[in-house]
Amino acid sequence: MKGIIMSGGKGTRLYPTTKSVSKQLLPIYDKPLIYYPLSVLMLAEIRDILVITDPHYLPLYKELLEDGSRIGLNISYAVQETPGGLAQAFTIGEEFIGNDSVCFILGDNVFYGRDLTTILGRAMNKLDGAVIFAYPVKDPTAFGVVEIGDDGKVISIEEKPAAPKSDLAVPGLYFYDSSVVEIAKHIVPSARGELEITAVNEEYLRRGKLRAELLGRGMAWLDTGTPDSMLKASQFIKAVQDMQGFYISCIEEIAWRRGFITKEQMLSIGESLKNTDYGKYLLSLGDTNYGDMA
Ligand code: DAU
Repeated sequence: MKGIIMSGGKGTRLYPTTKSVSKQLLPIYDKPLIYYPLSVLMLAEIRDILVITDPHYLPLYKELLEDGSRIGLNISYAVQETPGGLAQAFTIGEEFIGNDSVCFILGDNVFYGRDLTTILGRAMNKLDGAVIFAYPVKDPTAFGVVEIGDDGKVISIEEKPAAPKSDLAVPGLYFYDSSVVEIAKHIVPSARGELEITAVNEEYLRRGKLRAELLGRGMAWLDTGTPDSMLKASQFIKAVQDMQGFYISCIEEIAWRRGFITKEQMLSIGESLKNTDYGKYLLSLGDTNYGDMA
């Protein structure tokens, strides 16, 4: 399975902060925002990853993540010339996807929870069409909203409905088989002029190939679209890290625990960052091993 991180857009809702820098490179507490979705792909053992960015910021992403080999990944890049909608990812990434299935994640979505790895594994194993997720929120009107029947089947899915049929938002994490490329080529722009990811999901629903997994109470999903939500996400990450001593979405740690790199490779990255708490954390992992705590 391949992975795509959609990290384009102009971040206009965060101006002036994002006037000269890409939103997904801004920090959530102690690391760039894009580390969080990247770590989700790594937890799913996906190592072939395409990062799609605005052309203007491409050099910055390359400087940050390079070709991924430092952490045992194979990262390539593509540009989205203008933010014409999330579904453009699949036409931009057509060659990259090939005949494979793909995990698609938004560069500004943060997921954290004990069962995340299990949930990802379940979605990947049973993949026949598309798998999306459903997350209860107080106000679903700002999101894709999914309605699920008693049997877990998707009844409807709508983008930012004024009168939502459920309180279940669709987070920015999706699994698709390779037909997503063909589907994305045939959808038409929405009223707001975008090729919506929800339109792709609607087509899978029409074909009877859309499944939704409920993300329950134990899971944190943080959308980071506004200054407030970015601050809240930073506070959440700091609170959990301070309490447990484990870092959330430390990509070098995950790479080591997943066996993508050796302990020595991880420690040498720690050594190069030893004047920072992040580097000290990596170095401290040399002495401990609590099993799969990533
Ligand atoms: O966060 C989950 C939600 O993401 C879903 O519930 C919605 O169904 C989905 O449409 C999307 O809604 P948003 O309104 O949050 O999408 P937004 O336009 O803010 O884009 C999300 C991120 O993707 C944002 O960081 C910018 C990036 N983006 C967006 C567009 C439209 C791109 O990279 N390219 C694009 O063309």
